[in-house]
Amino acid sequence: MKVIVVKDYDAMSAKALEIMKAVVVEKPNAVLGLATGSTPLGLYANMIKDCKENGTSYKKVRTVNLDEYAGLDKNHNQSYAYFMRTNLFEGIDVDLANTNIEDGTAKDREKECERYSRLLDDMQQDIQLLGIGSNGHIAFNEPGTAFDSETHIVDLTESTIKDNSRLFEKIEDVPRQAFTMGLKNIMRAKKILVLANGAGKANAVYGMVKGRVTESVPASILQLHPDCTLVCDEAAASKIV
Ligand code: F6R
Repeated sequence: MKVIVVKDYDAMSAKALEIMKAVVVEKPNAVLGLATGSTPLGLYANMIKDCKENGTSYKKVRTVNLDEYAGLDKNHNQSYAYFMRTNLFEGIDVDLANTNIEDGTAKDREKECERYSRLLDDMQQDIQLLGIGSNGHIAFNEPGTAFDSETHIVDLTESTIKDNSRLFEKIEDVPRQAFTMGLKNIMRAKKILVLANGAGKANAVYGMVKGRVTESVPASILQLHPDCTLVCDEAAASKIV
């Protein structure tokens, strides 16, 4: 894994734009694997600014998102579909018809997982963006998830529910389940870009970069990817330097 340590969140977001933009400039119809959460917000703001000011175009791009809360409609303000529209898609020239995410309201959840995995088979990500959970999860693949997993439904752990509750009015409102791309779907990406910032991620970053490759630390699988870059700030890197 290539590791780039930068000073702070803004420098991480600037470096991330450089890497993402290079993919889109080289291949205007690239498939971008995208993530939600606080970590990529700076990157998304940079992509919007760069699209407006420099004309970098996403018109032909197709996107696949990592995960979605089970039970939330795409218009619910905490759904990841809503997050993507408001934090990125509405600010760039991507065609919304070319954006993909699991359907949180799907009645047959197993069938929805199967549909999404088969969609991913046809849409290999040219780049997959990832954040990392404080417990080492990537997407919603919690510790213990099989390395050969495809899209599946997960019961969120207490630590993830707690981490995410800051975005909801009260902790009881956080959905207990989510759809997530599996680790196998993520590892199929041609290139992976992981972003991490803040001291709260330092242990997870250590496990991902220097720990044993084990299903107990889902992000450790990334050590096996041939083209994975971690861009993190000094606080998140404190245990690996
Ligand atoms: C988001 C996702 C999660 C987050 C992770 C970090 O689509 O799949 O794995 O990347 O929970 O979240 P933040 O960025 O909020 O610290």
